[in-house]
Amino acid sequence: MSYYKIENLEQYFKHYKKSIREPRKFWGKIAEENFVWYQVWDKVFEFDMEESKFQWFVNGKLNIVKNCIDRHLAKRGDKPAIIFEPNNPEEEAQTITYNDLYNRVCKMANVLKDQGVKKGDRVCIYLPMIPDLAISMLACARIGAIHSVIFAGFSASAISKRVNDCGCKFVITSDGSFRGNKTIPLKPIVDEALESCPEVEKVLLVNRTGADVNMQEGRDLWLAPLLEEANSNHVAQVMDAEDPLFILYTSGSTGAPKGMVHTTAGYMVQTAYSFRNVFDYKEEDIFWCTADCGWITGHSYIIYGPLLNGATTVMFEGVPSYPTPSRFWDIIDKYKVTQFYTAPTAIRSLMTEDYSYVNNHDLSSLRVIGSVGEPINEEAWHWYNDHVGKKRCPIVDTWWQTETGSILVSPLPFITPTKPTYATLPLPGIQAVLMDEKRNEIEDNQIDGSLCVKFPWPSMARTIWGNHERYQETYFSQFPGKYFTGDGALRDEVGYYRITGRADDVVIVSGHNLGTAPIEDAINEHHAVAESAVVGYKHDIKGNALYGFITLKVEGETRDRENLRKEINQYISSHIGPIAKLDKIQFVESLPKTRSGKIMRRILRSISNGETKEFGDISTLINPEVIDSIINGKI
Ligand code: WT7
Repeated sequence: MSYYKIENLEQYFKHYKKSIREPRKFWGKIAEENFVWYQVWDKVFEFDMEESKFQWFVNGKLNIVKNCIDRHLAKRGDKPAIIFEPNNPEEEAQTITYNDLYNRVCKMANVLKDQGVKKGDRVCIYLPMIPDLAISMLACARIGAIHSVIFAGFSASAISKRVNDCGCKFVITSDGSFRGNKTIPLKPIVDEALESCPEVEKVLLVNRTGADVNMQEGRDLWLAPLLEEANSNHVAQVMDAEDPLFILYTSGSTGAPKGMVHTTAGYMVQTAYSFRNVFDYKEEDIFWCTADCGWITGHSYIIYGPLLNGATTVMFEGVPSYPTPSRFWDIIDKYKVTQFYTAPTAIRSLMTEDYSYVNNHDLSSLRVIGSVGEPINEEAWHWYNDHVGKKRCPIVDTWWQTETGSILVSPLPFITPTKPTYATLPLPGIQAVLMDEKRNEIEDNQIDGSLCVKFPWPSMARTIWGNHERYQETYFSQFPGKYFTGDGALRDEVGYYRITGRADDVVIVSGHNLGTAPIEDAINEHHAVAESAVVGYKHDIKGNALYGFITLKVEGETRDRENLRKEINQYISSHIGPIAKLDKIQFVESLPKTRSGKIMRRILRSISNGETKEFGDISTLINPEVIDSIINGKI
């Protein structure tokens, strides 16, 4: 009996039980039957909870790219692996077959090797959503280099922090990117970033927009001529199961971004398995995930999950609103997309457009539609169900995180009855639990608590690059012996989970995970600012938006407030990126603080949401009078 595909609800429960009672047999069988290995593992897993050290498929040897490409060539060489849809619909689309992908990845792997990239080296990839991005990631993995993709909307200082944190010596980027009706220069941003990255030796450039760029001699090289000369065959590097595959940065509630480290075998096995089941993937399908490869969703469900299954994956360079708000629907009809996976924020923004944009489309190719990144509100769920899925396609509301590597909680299409706003049930292998304030496991249903996972799973991040203590502290200290997700959740009477939102100082804005602390750090660098507190408030389209409460130094008092607001947002843009800009800025006399000097964000959160009647227990506040002054103050 195979465990790779769940066929019905009864089997789901059967597999789930098996995965809990005999996790070694469960994952061992999946790993053995569905992948190619240079050498099989000694043990399916080994871990030390005390030290938060986890290993899967111990001593197994493999290459994930061999599993993504080489092994498919005999049967699927001419099958499209990647369909590239450019930003501009007038530009010709590209279909990259598995044979093409093999040749392009091998060429790139050879170029990287020639440029001195070795196994274990970190390579920063800062590219728009073009095939070169996928090819660069796969080429790194093929030679055993660790890719660190940085979303191409991040600023120079965000890049330099990430490049320095993991010591990248190589950067792959492009002259610029196309997004909607804008052409954005990328190389100048990289140039600025690298002024503070002395360790970077080589910058490899893709020509995308044809913009003029500055080339630093000895450091910067155009990729095209190198690729042309390169050999189109390459023998994939033998990797250990636990060799790092990639680093991906995610915001923390405090301090610097966390470089989450994902390793090879466990990540491979679980992304492939979850892709197969959550999207009910079948050989003839055309799968489209609208995320950017700068986020984990793009890593796991544009690149690795689909390619491991020999699927055809659509890669879209543009935005949902260009040239018209029917772009998503145009693409679905153009390629006869069977599975469509997007974020609630995109759905909410498309919902505000005239319904004829979506209703004018056939969309009959769709079989499964998915949601990821933040809770999907009931209204958006119904709109998605009615207008996109036409009440025929199950919605998979998939809950997971950068840290989890793959989807952990989700309905299985045509198997798990869906329920609006509920991510429903954990996938096999995932021992989800709710914890109460006293750190006890909640046994009952219809109660909410902190969402934890009490047993390791193959695709979990293994550490934070260069800071294992922070990894332990962030994920394993709150509820000893368990992984704490940082999310709150509610469990209904049948055991379905509904994610209620972050329990920490991370705010999800338009599906982007933003820590408020680094935003405050950026604001506080402005010479007129004394102190700041940033909180999230409910926003119709973005889900959450950012509200900053700011106190000024004396020198700031006389400044024009509108100009100050602009300057502060410019600081944020240049330190983090435009996605972290504040929607509202209120200058206040002082911030509500506890006796120990901690800002009481809970109060500011209520005020920013217009809830000004009830603040709960404020007995520890030393300056309760500021509450009224903030409520009555002008924004
Ligand atoms: C946080 C993780 C997972 C890929 C994209 C985001 C929130 C994610 C859902 C969902 C409710 C969700 C959680 C989580 N989240 N999916 N289906 N329902 N909330 O990855 O940037 O690491 O963010 O996104 O709060 O902790 P990420």
